[in-house]
Amino acid sequence: MRVLVTGAGGFVGKHLVAELRSRNHEVIATALTSREDPHIGSLSSLPLTDYSLIKQFIELTQPDILFHMAAQSKVMKSWQDPSATISANTLGTIHLMQAMLEVCPDSRFINVGSSEEYGLAGKDGKPLTEEAACLPQNPYAVSKYAAGQLVIQLAKKHRLQAIHLRPFNHFGPGQEEGFVISDFASQIVKIEKGLISPILKVGDLSAQRDFTYCADIIDAYVSIVEKPLPNGMYNVCSGTPRRIQDILDHLLELSNTPIEIVTDTEKWRPSEVPLFVGSSRLLELQTGWKPRTDFYEGLKETLIWWRNK
Ligand code: GDD
Repeated sequence: MRVLVTGAGGFVGKHLVAELRSRNHEVIATALTSREDPHIGSLSSLPLTDYSLIKQFIELTQPDILFHMAAQSKVMKSWQDPSATISANTLGTIHLMQAMLEVCPDSRFINVGSSEEYGLAGKDGKPLTEEAACLPQNPYAVSKYAAGQLVIQLAKKHRLQAIHLRPFNHFGPGQEEGFVISDFASQIVKIEKGLISPILKVGDLSAQRDFTYCADIIDAYVSIVEKPLPNGMYNVCSGTPRRIQDILDHLLELSNTPIEIVTDTEKWRPSEVPLFVGSSRLLELQTGWKPRTDFYEGLKETLIWWRNK
């Protein structure tokens, strides 16, 4: 398959490109600006807000599959710049779909959304299925929800092959700061190395999230590339809610340095969703995928990565 991966320079994107290539797929890796990546080589520039450039690029590359991961992916940043978030995440997705419709209507479109789209729908703690009525609570969540609805509706109207994925939280080596596990692990390591005072700043520790290790996310994405799924929405998750406080406690146990925990009001969110847990039964039925990595092993690997960085 010839697969065009947008957001290929990101945390999950890099692993996905490498894995697809190792399975003999031809991968066209794109990012916002062209550059050389030490792990996956050349990234071509594909600015998602410029429709004519996107169309030209799709005409030139003629992919069998468009795997769209590029996004402004931080919830906090979406409050600081909602219009840039909508522009990158929602408009960018429509542009790609429109180009596909005009240039390669027989290709498959795989769009990466987010569990954030469910918002308060999950607050009663029952595993969210794809049918749950979404109540998104921040501009990032709205941007992904709108993109997902457009993907599904455009596909229906024009008989395109398109799916919208809703991955829940993921983590692992290589994830940048700005996400909870990397924020905690990076601070612990800076404290261990004496680079900062022994104070770890945290946000809301009462929230619960459903985390999947990056290698398992890649397995899910590869199986989706290799097996066409019926159009629709698909969750990618572990099915286990984890309290952020418990994750912090476990990471602290993995370090023998005394650390004081301090709440940083800057890290509190204007509108917090207390709990997300999902069901990936639909994806499991279609592909046989299940996450395999032990969560605590994943935490250990992540901390080791920050120590060796
Ligand atoms: N980032 C961060 N940093 N979050 C913290 C911290 C901290 O120091 N302390 C507590 N939290 C809490 C947040 O308030 C939130 O409830 C939870 O930890 C998870 O925060 P993030 O890791 O920032 O993830 P997210 O849930 O907001 O969004 C991520 O997951 C989505 C999928 O559900 C992002 O990766 C999104 O791009 C992704 O779509």
